[in-house]
Amino acid sequence: MVNEIKQSFLTQFSGEPLLIKSPGRINLIGEHTDYNNGFVMPAAIDNAMYFAIGKNGNSILEIHSFNYEESIIFKNLEKLDTPSWGKYFKAILEILHEKGFSIQGVQCVFGGDIPIGAGLSSSAALCCGFIFGLSELFDLKIKKEEIAKIGQAAEHRIGLNCGLMDQYAVLFGKKDHVFCLDCESLEIKYIPFQLENHTLVLINSNIEHQLASVDSEYNVRRTSCEKVVELISKNSPKIKSLRNVDFSLLKKYKNEIQPIDFQRVSYVIKENRRVHQVIDLLEKNELEEVGNILLQGHDGLSKEYEVSLPELDILVDLAKKETGILGARLMGGGFGGATINLVANENKSVALANIKKQYLELTGLKCKIHEVKIEDGIKII
Ligand code: GLA
Repeated sequence: MVNEIKQSFLTQFSGEPLLIKSPGRINLIGEHTDYNNGFVMPAAIDNAMYFAIGKNGNSILEIHSFNYEESIIFKNLEKLDTPSWGKYFKAILEILHEKGFSIQGVQCVFGGDIPIGAGLSSSAALCCGFIFGLSELFDLKIKKEEIAKIGQAAEHRIGLNCGLMDQYAVLFGKKDHVFCLDCESLEIKYIPFQLENHTLVLINSNIEHQLASVDSEYNVRRTSCEKVVELISKNSPKIKSLRNVDFSLLKKYKNEIQPIDFQRVSYVIKENRRVHQVIDLLEKNELEEVGNILLQGHDGLSKEYEVSLPELDILVDLAKKETGILGARLMGGGFGGATINLVANENKSVALANIKKQYLELTGLKCKIHEVKIEDGIKII
């Protein structure tokens, strides 16, 4: 794919482009914990967004989407055309401008094979890839940590109040490793992840999620968590996030907290624990138990945090019935996208064929199956 993108650049523009690979991500466990300063366990994968990018010697930014076969042109930050993907570029350019970075004219072709709305962070790959590309091109020396924060700020500007997990996975992923990110200190601990007899498999429900609307359910969940923190911090000013809230503290405020907020915060406290359990279990190579934790995670996402959909629940229920599928859960923000499944290799083809068939029968939808390869984070090719 990268060759096609380079070719498209050479056909439209002049000069040799810089080529960048910006991957998608999975998350083994730790969902909706990042914006609560908790813990997550993501990794970068083989699906990626590619950028061919070069200077054009003037002050115009010309950006072409290989997948959509559409282009946008910016003159002095004024975007002249408006395909929806253009809003990410606009937000990034505005933020870089506000931060005082000087960007001159650019010509760029981008595209890739991260399915949109599948919970694999195509937008983080897009944002981080473009910022990284500009930084390299104009020697801006923006550190990866700052690229992550600019990428996050761009998402916020568009309307999704996300955490930093996706950007960190895109930027700091390491081949054959997952990593535990402490979303408070932003410290990374890499954990080797090379399974001998098992495979991580994504099953895409074929329902695209739409997280980025201002009133989205995602932002509503975040607000619930923040309301509870605000309440607790009135008496305990040291509490700045749910990270340091446990059940004994939470219960003290039960009567003052709306039941729905209590339920959501309970989920977050348990999910943080699950991340630590999975760290221990991976060290001991106890994959059966990791599978169980994934199932518990899904249960929490579906019944407590309420970010699942019937189709995602069906995919997890079908996975539970298959011998050799150790665990499954919806992955990412929810409301569509894919489940992540831990599957024994010897049962893999039968189990996945069964799920495919029954999912079609039950929902009328075709699911897409993808075996995960864990790769390095962002890089120049
Ligand atoms: C989306 C957000 C992330 C994270 C996940 C849920 O992917 O971008 O910051 O909150 O949802 O874990």
